[in-house]
Amino acid sequence: MSDKIKTIGVLTSGGDAPGMNAAIRAVVRKAIAQGVSVKGIKKGYQGLLNEEIVDMDVHSVSDIIQRGGTILGTARCKEFVTEEGQKKGADICRKYGIDGMVVIGGDGSYRGAQALSKQGINTIGLPGTIDLDISCTDYTIGFDTAINTAMQAIDKVRDTSSSHERCSIIEVMGRNAGYIALWCGVANGAEDILLPEKYDFNEQRIINNIISNRKKGKTHHLIINAEGIGHSTSMARRIEAATGIETRATILGYMQRGGSPTCKDRYYASIMGAYAADILCEGKTNRVVGMQHGVLVDFDIDEALAMQKDIPEYEYEVSKVLSM
Ligand code: ADP
Ligand code: F6P
Repeated sequence: MSDKIKTIGVLTSGGDAPGMNAAIRAVVRKAIAQGVSVKGIKKGYQGLLNEEIVDMDVHSVSDIIQRGGTILGTARCKEFVTEEGQKKGADICRKYGIDGMVVIGGDGSYRGAQALSKQGINTIGLPGTIDLDISCTDYTIGFDTAINTAMQAIDKVRDTSSSHERCSIIEVMGRNAGYIALWCGVANGAEDILLPEKYDFNEQRIINNIISNRKKGKTHHLIINAEGIGHSTSMARRIEAATGIETRATILGYMQRGGSPTCKDRYYASIMGAYAADILCEGKTNRVVGMQHGVLVDFDIDEALAMQKDIPEYEYEVSKVLSM
């Protein structure tokens, strides 16, 4: 352990994700296990600027591993995007004796972590987002729970859709990324899967597909539409007008961000959280933790933010073939 690191902070930022609590618990307990004190920052960077800072001990993270959301709360904070806000945040860390910070969140939160690091506070990022849109890691905390929640909801919509011989458009979250849509599209056996990264806005092709499937005797037609494409309700109206088949849109919304985390989310959040605490206590800064091919990795935040992530081509091609 570095001589310098006596106290670390932990915060959750951006959209909450199931498994964040497991990550907080791991950070707290792994740091305390090596003699480092931990402070919890409430409501992300906003809570830091408002000095909403509490002492954490091993008991403050008891009975949370199974809970969705984040016990620390989360927020989006415009002030922290400014250099003034970042300086103020770093000064507050120094005031509370916080030598290092673990930031659990998505790409936006990493930019905040990068800024905090530049202001002299050692900072490590952990990938917490249901969207899976962080390039340096195969896995993000919350994705597994979100796709399972969405998959189960889509199965239910499919039941009623088949009974009424309707076409259903189901919109899933993911901001500008199509990973939730791809995974659910395949796992729910959707007839069409629309991803922001791939969609050509050829609605006529979807209409032709619906008509041809109906002629083949299919009783339902499931379209998984990604949030990044959106407009599911107007799409449903146009499809119904063009096909004469009743078409309904269901926007799954925030239910995808809640609920008890899956085993995978709890496990990886725990392992990555512990690793983040370790490297922070070793004195590392400006790093993000991830999993690649089942192995723990950490990267410089600047490098991580410059990496690109694409929908895997083979998986996308398979999704199209299987939906025939
Ligand atoms: P996520 O972390 O899930 O991608 P956001 O993009 O909303 O979510 O980012 C979360 C928060 O991180 C923002 O509200 C802001 O406080 C901080 N943040 C985002 N971008 C920057 C930036 N360029 N510099 C500093 N802080 C940032
Ligand atoms: O990043 C997670 C996420 O749920 C996205 O899928 C979605 O676009 C966004 O957050 C919604 O954010 P908000 O809570 O600000 O509506």
